[in-house]
Amino acid sequence: MTDPAPPPENFAGYQNEIYLHGLEDRVPPFTTDATRLGASARTRLDAGAFGYVAGAAGSGATHRANREAFDHYRLVPRMLTDATDRDLRTRVLGTSMPAPVVLAPVGVQSILHPDGEPATARAAASLGLTATLSTASSYSLEEVAEAGGSAPRWFQLYWPNDDEVCVSILRRARDAGYSTLVVTLDTWTLAWRPQDLDQAYLPFIRGVGTAIPFSDPVFRAGLDRPPEEDLGAAVLRWVPMFTGTDTSWDRLPFLRQHWDGPIALKGIQHPDDARRAADAGMDGVVVSNHGGRQVDGAMASLDALPGVVRAVEGTGLEVLFDSGVRTGSDALKALALGARAVLLGRPFAYGLAHGGEDGVRHVLRSFLADLHLTLGLSGHRTPDDLTPDDLWHR
Ligand SMILES: Cc1cc2nc3c(=O)[nH]c(=O)nc-3n(C[C@H](O)[C@H](O)[C@H](O)COP(=O)(O)O)c2cc1C
Repeated sequence: MTDPAPPPENFAGYQNEIYLHGLEDRVPPFTTDATRLGASARTRLDAGAFGYVAGAAGSGATHRANREAFDHYRLVPRMLTDATDRDLRTRVLGTSMPAPVVLAPVGVQSILHPDGEPATARAAASLGLTATLSTASSYSLEEVAEAGGSAPRWFQLYWPNDDEVCVSILRRARDAGYSTLVVTLDTWTLAWRPQDLDQAYLPFIRGVGTAIPFSDPVFRAGLDRPPEEDLGAAVLRWVPMFTGTDTSWDRLPFLRQHWDGPIALKGIQHPDDARRAADAGMDGVVVSNHGGRQVDGAMASLDALPGVVRAVEGTGLEVLFDSGVRTGSDALKALALGARAVLLGRPFAYGLAHGGEDGVRHVLRSFLADLHLTLGLSGHRTPDDLTPDDLWHR
């Protein structure tokens, strides 16, 4: 499904398209500046949904630190490097990609737009990008797979404490063509999130973001009555199954046993944890602090990246990065520090809120164009050309 790789895309062409539309007095549907998307999404969403996306843990210190960390690094552009033709293609965790960009798992997308995850999958697929489907999806694994068609797709697991339900969900994911498993470790229970608490807003207990378990035969078999007849009982069975139980390194072989594709652990910040992931035979880690939504006061994810990259040098473990990526230059900085790819989170979620599939596509095309242009303008032709020497650190 992921091969052969098509020729390099000229993502920068979106810039010309926008300016040419200007000749007909047409402007983009909403801002091309990802740092302003949140403010503009606020006017389109109800307070609960907006707070759920924009909110962070505790005081928001880590959410802010994630963005500030990008400011501590600056690109050092090089000139006369013959960078006219750029090639962003890469291969990450067994998947060929037109650019080192993956859509992060973002749950409960139907609170942002009724078309939810299938709209995101269609937008990603139209650009050849890989979208990661969250366990907390508002549509089933199979529905989202169908929307994504032949585009590559990854599945993110919130590890249920019921092994049979877990195995059933993994089997469905494989059958539906999800190639890579991303196991999120940092959210085994929900952090203290004042924006959600002040509105007493939690989608899962309303039966939103529960489509995957509710459509699962093994989960359903454990209920007296199906979720369509007794939503409350289904919610009460699922919520303590996917949240509230931490696990340990010695459980990773269980996942290996039930997933034959690449596995990446998401939420890694400490070099020792990255090393343990490599020792455990994992294929990758996502250096992430969940966009500052879990441990308030945790270090910025970008500041964790160099230590993790150093720790796993020579092991073959692939290091991916998220938390705070908004612009092309953010992505270049993470790539220069050793990330194989970046995951985009809140920006595409805000795009969904603005205009469903088209809104997500506009955000993705804007991000890719910015990345393509800034890569060339800083004197590089491929992401692999970037090294820490291309950065100045304040
Ligand atoms: C509304 C929202 C829902 C999220 N849901 C999930 C999820 O279901 N699973 C997961 O692993 N990460 C989830 N994340 C975290 C993202 O995958 C990613 O780590 C984070 O958005 C990165 O931070 P950024 O968006 O500020 O760049 C969610 C993030 C947001 C904003």
